[in-house]
Amino acid sequence: MSNTEPLPNLGFGLGLRTDHYQTILADKPSVDWFEVITENYLVPGGKPLYYLDHIRANYPMVMHGVSLSIGGTDGLNFDYLRQVKALAERIEPAWISDHLCWTGVNGVNLHDLLPLPYTEEAIQHVANRVSTVQNFLGRRILLENVSSYITYSHSEMTEWDFLSAVAERSDCLILLDINNIYVSAHNHDFDPLVYLHNVSVNRVQQFHLAGHLNLGNIIIDSHGDSVIDPVWSLYQAALHRFGPVSTMIERDDNIPSFEELLAELEMARKIASSLRLAA
Ligand SMILES: [Fe+2]
Repeated sequence: MSNTEPLPNLGFGLGLRTDHYQTILADKPSVDWFEVITENYLVPGGKPLYYLDHIRANYPMVMHGVSLSIGGTDGLNFDYLRQVKALAERIEPAWISDHLCWTGVNGVNLHDLLPLPYTEEAIQHVANRVSTVQNFLGRRILLENVSSYITYSHSEMTEWDFLSAVAERSDCLILLDINNIYVSAHNHDFDPLVYLHNVSVNRVQQFHLAGHLNLGNIIIDSHGDSVIDPVWSLYQAALHRFGPVSTMIERDDNIPSFEELLAELEMARKIASSLRLAA
């Protein structure tokens, strides 16, 4: 791998969504950066790349993928990775992220981000694949903790120990999704603060915040609503532990006006600055 330089703190960002292309281009709103879904721009041309290039001219960007399947047992998809690398050369993202999960087997894509068994064998398997990906891309990647609805009876450790071990073993960074911790803590009955306090501090490069759907006995990570107060509290605890970390809000369903997302992002800024005042 050629680049292990420290990555910048980008501040407070939003996900780039088609509904807001025109507003962003016309108004140049005060968002520090945008996260783009990598797969939306793996196309030869047309409107997606037009908007991407024009918005990139005004804002830093990071690329966030859903297709790497870093925990899968099928071979890594080098055709996909070549496209990711080409897109990265085009928009020069501050970093590239994907998820600590598997998404299919035997060439069948299950279109879901599925959790892994938390075993030593899985750590080694993922770490080997992360090293290959990082060498190919010439940079460290970020892996995100996914929300989950199942566990494996043969897991040997906690999710937080697994996540930290993968990051240490493969020298990758972590995209810590605060809402996913809240969702999984509810679904699997663990204390989200214990999760936060056991993730390696120097590996966390980015936070995700999002809303979810609470069905009572289970919470679904829907990204279709505002961030709820307990997740804001968890975000505050995360800032306290990890310090200032680039933060963005994910919204993929029931997309509101851009102003509404800006107001939500302002909440993140306020929490972060109140901690700085208290420091
Ligand atoms: Fe996320």
